[in-house]
This record gives sequence, C-alpha cells and structure tokens, in this order.
Amino acid sequence: MSLSDLLDSLPVPILQAPMVGASTEEMALAVGAAGGMGSIGAGALSPEAIGEAVLRLKSRSPGPFGVNLFVLPPARPDGEVVSRALERLAPWYAQLGAPLPEAPNDFAPDFEAQLAALTAAAPPVASFTFGVLSREQVDALHRAGTFVVGTATTVAEARAWAEVGADGICAQGFEAGGHRGHFLAETEASLVGTLPLVATIRAAVDLPVVAAGGIMDGRGVAAVLALGAAAAQMGTAFLLSDQTGVSAPWRAALAGAGDEATRLTRAFTGRHARGLENRFMRQMRVAEDEVPAYPVQNRLTQPLRAAAAKAGEADMLSLWAGQGASLARSGEAGEMVRRWWSEAQEAARHLGRRTRQDT
Ligand SMILES: Cc1cc2nc3c(=O)[nH]c(=O)nc-3n(C[C@H](O)[C@H](O)[C@H](O)COP(=O)(O)O)c2cc1C
Repeated sequence: MSLSDLLDSLPVPILQAPMVGASTEEMALAVGAAGGMGSIGAGALSPEAIGEAVLRLKSRSPGPFGVNLFVLPPARPDGEVVSRALERLAPWYAQLGAPLPEAPNDFAPDFEAQLAALTAAAPPVASFTFGVLSREQVDALHRAGTFVVGTATTVAEARAWAEVGADGICAQGFEAGGHRGHFLAETEASLVGTLPLVATIRAAVDLPVVAAGGIMDGRGVAAVLALGAAAAQMGTAFLLSDQTGVSAPWRAALAGAGDEATRLTRAFTGRHARGLENRFMRQMRVAEDEVPAYPVQNRLTQPLRAAAAKAGEADMLSLWAGQGASLARSGEAGEMVRRWWSEAQEAARHLGRRTRQDT
C-alpha cells in the first residue's frame, strides 16, 4: 500500500492538522471516527511521551493517524544573546507580575531522540516541518511501516523531500495559521499562497499532495481537491471545536476575530508564525529581527505565555490562527468533518451543473 492508497481509502479526505498547543488526542480520534484522519503535534513532547501517545492512539484510533515533529538541530546560543533577549522581555514579565526566568540550559527536546522514539513507536503516518530528514532517517521510518510526509512551502522544498524518499508532501500555503515550515529560502521568499503552491508542487513532484492553509469549510475542501490535492489539511477550522486544546483567552480572541486579523510575527518564538495580531506583536515589531532564532526565543517566552494564559491576558499570548480565522466555528470535531464533507459534495454538484451548462 502507498500513501496515495491510504489517502484514497479514507471515507473523507480531510486531515486535521497537527497543532502543538491546540490539537489533542481526543480531537484526532473524533476526526478519525468521522472518516477523516487526525494527527497530534508532538514537537514539544519528550521521547517517552511520544512513545506513550502513539501506543494510546494505536489502541483507540478507528483508522490511520499522524504524528508530527519539528526537524531541529540542537540549539547552542551564545550566553550574551540569551541575556539580551531576556532583558528585552523583562518589561513584559513585569506587566504580568511574573518572575523573569533564569537562562535555561535546554531550549527544546532533542530531535534525534524524538525521532528514534517515533520510529520505534511506528505510527501509520509521520509528518515533519521546519526541515528535511536524511534518506537514512526516511528509510528507517519506512522499515517500521510508517509513511513519511514532508511539509513544503515552496517547490524546491517539495523536491528536497522527494529526493530523500518521502511518500507525500504537505503543501503549506501563506494563509496557514501557526509556524511557517520553510527551511530552504528566507521567509519572504517562501510565502506562496495555497492555490499556486498546490498546483506548482503537483506539476513538479510525482507524490500525493496534502493542501494546507486557509481551508475553512467544505467549499475549500472541494477547491483543493479540484486542484489535484489528495486531501485537505485543516488547522484553524478546528481551534474552536469541543476537543480543542487552546486556552480560554485564545478561544475568546478567536471567537471575536475580525476579517483581516492575522499577521506574521517572529517576536514570540524566533520563527515566523501567523496569529491574531495583539499588543505584544505590535510593540515587539521594532525588535522582531533581533530576537534569537527558534527554539531559543520560543523557550524564553514560554513562561510569559503560560502566565498570560492563566491571567486571561490575550495581549501577551501567541494566538496562532490562519487567514480564515473569522470563519472558525464551535462544535464537535467529528460533526464538523461530516458537515464539511457534505458541503464539499454539494460544492462539487454545483460545479458539475455549472460546467455542464457551459459546454
Ligand atoms: C495553533 C496551530 C498550531 C500549529 N502547530 C503545528 C505543528 O505543531 N506542526 C506543524 O507541522 N504544523 C503546525 N501548524 C500548521 C498546520 O499544520 C497547518 O499547516 C495549518 O493549520 C493550515 O492552515 P489553516 O490554519 O489555515 O487551516 C499549526 C497551526 C496552528 C493554527
């Protein structure tokens, strides 16, 4: 069986995006039970926790599921850089009455150890963002029986994943919520919209493409399937679902989001990500290019964001969301998947009528 066969065999070609801090095992299970494919974002988990999560999902999931990791080299920042970054954050910690953290020793879980645990746990699908694996790493996942999906924001990145033997490409458009997955060119050169990205990757690489970015309902699902995507991956559309993992102030900000509410920022984490614009993003814009690269800045703002969530202070939280944020609705995740698929079928029927009329 190939990844194409697996995606074609899904009753509903809708994948729930892996989202650190937002997706949950319950969400993935509900999406799987509705005929789609759920996934968990494991980028922040320890190797042990990854193994345990995969075991739980294997025993409970009615169908295939995915697990996602960040491809990250170990971070060894200069002590000076860390002190300066903490100084810059001090007024924000003070506003919340939270203590400024000491310079940490660790900035992110060790990727090699996470990957070893993931390979040993052998989920049906493993997806990756922020970088590309080596051919040996992909081969090891294949030997374990795991399909490999690489995130690409450009055609060059899709080709890089094809060269190491990936089974499929997640084409992440500019519209997408959360971190940009780019790893070859700078951010500015990696901001392609979902429509041209899916079309150009389809033309360049002979692998199934999963379209991600700005898909908020069944019409969006139908649109990317018409473009030749094997499935639609949706993230922001699940953020207000009953199974969401997002904090109360983040949920409230989403529920009140205006139409052009999102911006890209690297101020929270040191890597460009899309979220609802707030005071932290606006005021930190002047220093945005100076903050240390991911995962260092991410680690230094973690206690700030945790304190802000506790205090109900949305202005100091990373409110990750895509350009379609104002279309996010509440509801049960499985119900949403069923509704989007019937909307997609209706959109296809409508297009069928429209195209027959013209010929
Ligand atoms: C809150 C949030 C967290 C995310 N975390 C991850 C992640 O851990 N790994 C990943 O590959 N993508 C992550 N993404 C990006 C999604 O996989 C996907 O590309 C995006 O949600 C699609 O665009 P949409 O939000 O417009 O649906 C995240 C997105 C959001 C909104």
